[in-house]
Amino acid sequence: MLAENKLVVLKDFIQKSSREEIIWANGYLAGFLAQNETATQIAATPVVTVKPTIIYGTETGNSKKLAAQLQALLKKNKIQSKVVDAFQYSLDKIEKEDFLIVIMSTQGEGDAPQNAVKFFDNLSNSNVNLSKTQFAVLGLGDSSYPLFCKAGEVIDEQLNRLNAKRALAFQTADVDFAPVAENWFKEILDLLQKAGIEAPTAKKEIINTTSHKKSYTGNITHKVVLNDRESNKETYHIEISTEEDIQYEPGDAIGFFPKNKEEEINQIADFFTFKENASLLIDRNIRGLSKKSLTIIGALFGQDITEEKSDLLDILNKYSKPEQVTLDELIALLHPIAPRLYSISSALEAHEEQVHITVTLSTFEVDEIRKTGLCSQFLADYPKETAIDFYIHKNQNFKLPQADKDIIMIGPGTGIAPFRSFLAHRDATGAEGKNWLVFGEQHFVCDFYYQTEIQEWLTTGVLTKLDTAFSRDQKEKIYVQDRLKENAKEVYQWLENGAYLYVCGQKNPMSSDVETTLLEIIETEKGIKREEAVAYLEALETEGRYQKDVY
Ligand SMILES: Cc1cc2nc3c(=O)[nH]c(=O)nc-3n(C[C@H](O)[C@H](O)[C@H](O)COP(=O)(O)OP(=O)(O)OC[C@H]3O[C@@H](n4cnc5c(N)ncnc54)[C@H](O)[C@@H]3O)c2cc1C
Ligand SMILES: NC(=O)c1ccc[n+]([C@@H]2O[C@H](COP(=O)([O-])OP(=O)(O)OC[C@H]3O[C@@H](n4cnc5c(N)ncnc54)[C@H](OP(=O)(O)O)[C@@H]3O)[C@@H](O)[C@H]2O)c1
Ligand SMILES: Cc1cc2nc3c(=O)[nH]c(=O)nc-3n(C[C@H](O)[C@H](O)[C@H](O)COP(=O)(O)O)c2cc1C
Repeated sequence: MLAENKLVVLKDFIQKSSREEIIWANGYLAGFLAQNETATQIAATPVVTVKPTIIYGTETGNSKKLAAQLQALLKKNKIQSKVVDAFQYSLDKIEKEDFLIVIMSTQGEGDAPQNAVKFFDNLSNSNVNLSKTQFAVLGLGDSSYPLFCKAGEVIDEQLNRLNAKRALAFQTADVDFAPVAENWFKEILDLLQKAGIEAPTAKKEIINTTSHKKSYTGNITHKVVLNDRESNKETYHIEISTEEDIQYEPGDAIGFFPKNKEEEINQIADFFTFKENASLLIDRNIRGLSKKSLTIIGALFGQDITEEKSDLLDILNKYSKPEQVTLDELIALLHPIAPRLYSISSALEAHEEQVHITVTLSTFEVDEIRKTGLCSQFLADYPKETAIDFYIHKNQNFKLPQADKDIIMIGPGTGIAPFRSFLAHRDATGAEGKNWLVFGEQHFVCDFYYQTEIQEWLTTGVLTKLDTAFSRDQKEKIYVQDRLKENAKEVYQWLENGAYLYVCGQKNPMSSDVETTLLEIIETEKGIKREEAVAYLEALETEGRYQKDVY
């Protein structure tokens, strides 16, 4: 029998608790009775009363993976948590959160990843009072980018602004995020295991780093356009040779810091009387400026700049700049140019001391004027036998499996790049796993990248199966996913036999359309419902048997 006052407390606890919490409390009390005879002995036993929510914002899956790892660690320690995709998270619930954990990568120019844009914007505009919420933010990023882990940093600041209590200092994690995340998880666990959560920690100073990655120097020794004359594309195969000891694996990418053209810099400088520092524009971002940057420049010019994206030169031509605004003031507002990544299309086992890439010249129109992308044009123009700096971007989420495992590679357009590397590696190492390539481009005659090599691999048996989808060779478009559909039984059979599935190339709409087709195939061939097919594909992803490198 409980004393009246204790009964009131218990009833109050029950009323305020979820079913899961009551079940947990029941188990806890039973465990306590089994292990301890006297209540005095429980003092050191952790009493976890909070149920953390882990929100992740991700573009390429790193943050999602970490969120799942953290949840598993907490579960192992008897702490129930909820993992939510930032896209699915409704801000209406935020005031009820005891403990919010955010794992957020940064994309673009210091922006939130696509799935977290809504969460990010809503939080920025919110005025809820989070004084009952504790929080911790882990920012994933890459210190090669000028705005290192910016999205995570902003989320951390926003939660603080809304009166939430910072339980742990904002933590940044660079490309080799695993050890940092592991330590951070331990700190989170430690905090949660203490009955109360410790006093908020001060925000850590964020060092705005420039690249600490090892930079290599090489020469472009070979450059060729892979398309034939009638093509709509200009896709370059570029070979870089280096005497430095480079180490990379199939699936890794190479990063470049492109530079602005002198002609464009001079045209910008001509708008100013004093142009001594114009050369500083060489590595400042003056192309495709974001709405955010344009608003800041607009404020300097006293103009309402309405463009969503624009080049600085076009802005100077279109909007009148006050005479007193100096070039130095403008330069101070510009970010450094962000690096660009390209999937490596070679393999060291086959192409010693070399890195190959497959680069499509990005073209687009602004006010009916044809423009080209900064880095793809920079690489297209880069003179041969001239030193070029680059770095290796490791990608642990896009790796070949053991040599005896089968692989299905879906790579339309430049998505072929890592698969040339996979096949060259498997050829050179004599890997016995089966290899199936699904490639697509616009036209067979002018856009079949690496056709000779691919056919050679078919002849020698390195390539077990090849399917091509030339989208514009007939009236109706045919895409790689149509080929998958035609081969549905075989796709499913390969998967059931343990094959690894890879997708590389355009993120949207290609990779999402391919995923839809894969789900349809699994649904039909296995005779299951869509939700079950989703779970099947998710399980493959968790096992590392469904990997995407999309951009
Ligand atoms: C992991 C990874 C691997 C990749 N691998 C490859 C690969 O193997 N091959 C490959 O070709 N690419 C690859 N990419 C893409 C590559 O990194 C670049 O994004 C691509 O080459 C475009 O860069 P850019 O500098 O040429 O174009 P940017 O100058 O960055 O322009 C990109 C786009 O921004 C818009 N834009 C720019 N300026 C303006 C403006 N003034 N007004 C309106 N819109 C504008 C246009 O839509 C343009 O197409 C990869 C990307 C990633 C993340
Ligand atoms: N802006 C540019 O000028 C430009 C040019 C090239 C590439 N890029 C960028 O570079 C990246 C990769 O381009 P890429 O040259 O490698 O190839 P890509 O443009 O992706 O084209 C490769 C093949 O994929 C097809 N495709 C288009 N939509 C598809 C879909 N939903 N599902 C399946 N296949 C689809 C294309 O067909 P169709 O073309 O017939 O539809 C083409 O046959 C993309 O991010 C792209 O934005 C930009
Ligand atoms: C196109 C692109 C832009 C990026 N921009 C930034 C950036 O501005 N700042 C940063 O710190 N990291 C940047 N990154 C690095 C990512 O944040 C990093 O790779 C992270 O591990 C990705 O995690 P995710 O898979 O959860 O999205 C960028 C990566 C790519 C591919």
